[in-house]
Amino acid sequence: MRQSQITEWCHFMIRSQAVEGGTYIDGTMGNGHDTLLLCELAGKKGSVWAFDVQEQALRNTKALLAEHGYDGRVQLIQDGHENMDHYLEPESADVVCFNFGYLPGGDHQIATRPETSLAAVQKGLEILKRGGMMSLCLYSGGETGFEEKEKLLACLKELPSGKYTVIVNEYYNRRNCPPLPVFIFKS
Ligand SMILES: C[S@@+](CC[C@H](N)C(=O)[O-])C[C@H]1O[C@@H](n2cnc3c(N)ncnc32)[C@H](O)[C@@H]1O
Repeated sequence: MRQSQITEWCHFMIRSQAVEGGTYIDGTMGNGHDTLLLCELAGKKGSVWAFDVQEQALRNTKALLAEHGYDGRVQLIQDGHENMDHYLEPESADVVCFNFGYLPGGDHQIATRPETSLAAVQKGLEILKRGGMMSLCLYSGGETGFEEKEKLLACLKELPSGKYTVIVNEYYNRRNCPPLPVFIFKS
């Protein structure tokens, strides 16, 4: 199965929601793999906004995008995703994605945190258009702990079902705290 890893599965779902010329947000830029996908989906007429707190993430992403010929079409912002409402209007984005945790190959101490992740998801849902989708890669155990995942899931459980459909996928037969892909559709 080609979509067996969480990032591949999330990319598959994000692709299914692609809108030519749309607005895409990557809330956790990291090494730029999600930003790269969003640039491809946005095409020449769309826009991509990517956030990370680490300069290293911006450097790595810039290099990856340049390698693929996407420089100039994306806003790489060194700021916390909890501030995304400073940059984007309500109901302006087609897709918002988050891949929580730490920068692979970077400092594991600089990871996403429960309070800021929660604020970012709440703001992201406001910024999402009706008909748009938010994709979340949630991790737990190890250095990340469980608090972030539990806080986010508790909040998502309370979202009004008339406005949001929340789908939580599960790696049902995997041991040792498998990652959790979550998709939120706004109507
Ligand atoms: C798992 S990585 C993201 C992977 C990335 N999407 C990719 O394709 O490589 C998580 C990233 O979240 C970033 N991060 C931590 N706190 C953040 C915050 N408040 N706002 C935005 N990014 C944050 C980390 O610096 C790290 O680069």
